[in-house]
Amino acid sequence: MKIIVLGPPGSGKGTQAVRLGKYCRVPHISTGDILRQLVKGKTFLAKRVKSYMNSGKLVPDRIIVDIVSGRLAEKDAKKGFVLDGFPRNLNQAEILEKLAMVKDKPKVFNLKASDKTLVKRISGRRVCGSCRANYHVEYNPSKIMEKCANCGGSLYQRDDDKPQAIRNRLKVYKKESRPLVRYYAKKKMLVSINGEKTEKEVFSSLIKHLKK
Ligand code: AP5
Repeated sequence: MKIIVLGPPGSGKGTQAVRLGKYCRVPHISTGDILRQLVKGKTFLAKRVKSYMNSGKLVPDRIIVDIVSGRLAEKDAKKGFVLDGFPRNLNQAEILEKLAMVKDKPKVFNLKASDKTLVKRISGRRVCGSCRANYHVEYNPSKIMEKCANCGGSLYQRDDDKPQAIRNRLKVYKKESRPLVRYYAKKKMLVSINGEKTEKEVFSSLIKHLKK
């Protein structure tokens, strides 16, 4: 089972990709999560990647393609994967085809939501520093004040979830990533999903389409 989850920042890609990975018993591969781990380091590469992420820009293809090709070559990804955050532009989509789609085509889901919803979701997001669980101050608050209900880790706001970076990320999405919707639609691989609904409802729609 190979699944790609597309959608603008805050559309719920990460939330749904985690659920899909568990449901299909394949790894959830999030380029955002991998990069956030990488920038914790003190290397030159970490500093460089951090400056792109914090300003809401895409990390250069050369860097991200190396990371993704390495991850897809790991044993657990041989039986399938849920890709969240990759591809992010047409060049990455073409590279992915060479890397992972030689035999069977993946299912591509596109989560749709209005800018108003996206901004509200991103600005209220809180992430666990230990297990990376996602919360939202209004829609999905943790049962423990400012702590993760899963592991007790501290919750924080991502650096790129600040207003200026959010605006840039939405701009970059429209220019660089939105063309992927047409790209996969032309290949008859795309299923669009209403991402405005509740987390549970969105997941039910995804599963319904997976079973078709
Ligand atoms: P990445 O981490 O991929 O961020 P993003 O695409 O901007 O997406 P988000 O993580 O903000 O949102 P999401 O759609 O996953 O929503 P979520 O489920 O968290 O990338 C970060 C950066 O890394 C990029 O800007 C770029 O710099 C770099 N990067 C990554 N991949 C790259 C690539 N391939 N090439 C180049 N650069 C790359 O949900 C958001 C919030 O809403 C949460 O609080 C959640 O609890 C809540 N929520 C979710 N679903 C619902 C719902 N249905 N109802 C109510 N609330 C909901």
